[in-house]
This record gives sequence, C-alpha cells and structure tokens, in this order.
Amino acid sequence: MLIKKPAEISSSEITPAHIYHERRRFLRDAIAAGIIGAVPGLTPAEAAVLPSSGKLAGVRKGSVTIVDKVTSYKDVTTYNNFYEFGTDKSDPASNARGFRTRPWTIAVEGACRRPAVYQLEDFVRPYALEERIYRMRCVEAWSMVIPWVGFPLAEVLKRAEPTSRAKFVEFTTLHDPEQMPGQRPGLLGTGLDWPYVEGLRLDEAMHPLTILAVGVFGEVLPNQNGAPLRLVVPWKYGFKGIKSIVRIRLVERQPLSSWMQAALHEYGFYANVNPRVDHPRWSQARERRIGEDGLFSAKRETLMFNGYAEQVASLYTGMDLRKYY
Ligand code: MTE
Repeated sequence: MLIKKPAEISSSEITPAHIYHERRRFLRDAIAAGIIGAVPGLTPAEAAVLPSSGKLAGVRKGSVTIVDKVTSYKDVTTYNNFYEFGTDKSDPASNARGFRTRPWTIAVEGACRRPAVYQLEDFVRPYALEERIYRMRCVEAWSMVIPWVGFPLAEVLKRAEPTSRAKFVEFTTLHDPEQMPGQRPGLLGTGLDWPYVEGLRLDEAMHPLTILAVGVFGEVLPNQNGAPLRLVVPWKYGFKGIKSIVRIRLVERQPLSSWMQAALHEYGFYANVNPRVDHPRWSQARERRIGEDGLFSAKRETLMFNGYAEQVASLYTGMDLRKYY
C-alpha cells in the first residue's frame, strides 16, 4: 500500500501555524464577501482551497509569461496522453470522466526531515495559486501553449526539509486498475509497468519554473489532464509531466522512470527538449502546434530546452546533452 494513515495527521501539525491561520482568515473573509462559494460535501474553507470542479479562486497572474497564442480549451482537454485511460488522444477525455479525485492523499517521504501524508486540501492550502502560461512540447513532435494554475514544487520540497542524502525526486501516479482501465493486465499493451513513475534531479525539481498544477484555464484540472495534481516541467518533453500524483519521494539514486523501463534507448532520464537529438524513430527538429499548424506538418522549429534555455541551461553546464538525453 502506498498510502498510510492520513487520518492520524492533523493539518495544523503539517502547516506552519501562522500560514494556516492567515489562510483560514483570508478564506473566511472571502466566503463572507461571497467571493468564494461552497461545494457540497466539503466545509466552505476546504471547498475554497481546492474545489473538485469549476473556477479556482484567488489565482494570481504568473510572473513567467510568453507571447505565443494560448491553445484552445478544447484541444488542451481532448488531445491528451494519459495511458491509464487509453492510448488514443481522445480516450482520456471520455474514459476518465468518472475518475474519483476526492478524497485524495499525497505522501511526501524519503530523505527528508518532515515526511507526511496529506489530505489533498491540506497539501495545497499553504500555497498561493499562480497562473503560468507555458509552452509544452510532446516527444511525439507536437506542442501546445497551456495556462496552468499551480505553485512551485520547490515550496513543497522546502516544507519537507530534504536531508543531504536527497539528490533526486521520484513521483508516482495512483495505481487503481478498477478505475484506470489501462492498468489492467494485457488490456492495452502500452508496454508500461504501473504505476507510472517519473523523476527529476533535485535542482531541476527546485527550479522556479517547475510547478505542481491543480488547474488549467483558471479552473480545476480536468481528470484527463491529471487531476487532482500533476507535475509541469516546461523545458522537458511532456512525458515528464506525471499526472494524478499520490507520492513524492526524495531519494539518493536516480529513479527509474516508467518510460526508461519500457524503452531506455528512446526515452532518457533527462528528456530535455533538444532539437539536435532525434528520437530513434523520428526527427525532433520541428514540431506541430496543435490547433494552428496543419494536421500532419511539423513546421515550427523546436527550440533548445523548448525555449527556456535562458532560465535552465545553467543546470546542465558541462553535461553532454546527447549522452544524457
Ligand atoms: N502521466 C501519467 N500518469 N500517465 C501518462 O500516460 N503521459 C505523459 C504525461 N503524463 C502520462 C502522464 C505524456 S506522454 C504527456 S505528453 C503529458 O502527460 C500530456 O499531458 P496533457 O494531456 O495534459 O497535455
């Protein structure tokens, strides 16, 4: 079992008291002023932190913006990769419709001083939600521009207080074959072992561009996009953006991701967008922007680190990015 005794941990134990009370006060005032509404089944304060659907309250405009045209809501939410719900792009939107994202717990564990298992609402409560419009590039040579809503992963890691042994971060998706048809043995033949696992080096995970998203287009994340919580790393191929996370573990050794395990010669640990390193079966020099470029033409030049070189290239100084692909 991945999840242990969430009921034993009260939120006030996990969240520093002053943040907890500040946030509570803000929420109470917002609810009283009618800015935030209630959702059945949750207390008003919990619903305000993270409702299970609809608009997210109090989202700040992000500090990182780009000039590209934002991809349509329809494309972002119907052209998806989420193999737990099927391998066709349209499968996740139809097959994840009834996916239960409440109650949801997230374990933060491993090489850290403050491991804990959080209820989703407690996990999210301390953080200010911010909109980040990011260019996203899939390894399949298509791209989108997506307005995520989330908060820096660094905040979560700092709260856990990593020890000096923590060198990498490993993320795990929910394992629930009953709800996720793609996880049932032999059904889809994706070649992946379940649950889906991804990893980052600790400094990549701490980089301010790396976020945990709970929403998109100002609303709660639709199930097909990885509700209730997914990783977003804009300078890496989309498969690093693991969805529906239940565990974040600080580790000493480089994690073995699901895609490395399935096809190491095709999908490396780093997965940095690098137009000069072709996928063994196709070129990565160009990409097709969904909703803008023609159906089959990968016209747009792919940029090094997906256009985020200025912010992230220094993380890889001295590394051979052909070898560490
Ligand atoms: N996470 C899980 N758990 N399962 C998956 O199949 N697919 C990855 C990534 N995260 C995947 C996943 C791939 S290949 C991509 S391109 C992105 O999710 C797609 O995210 P989006 O559908 O929200 O655009």
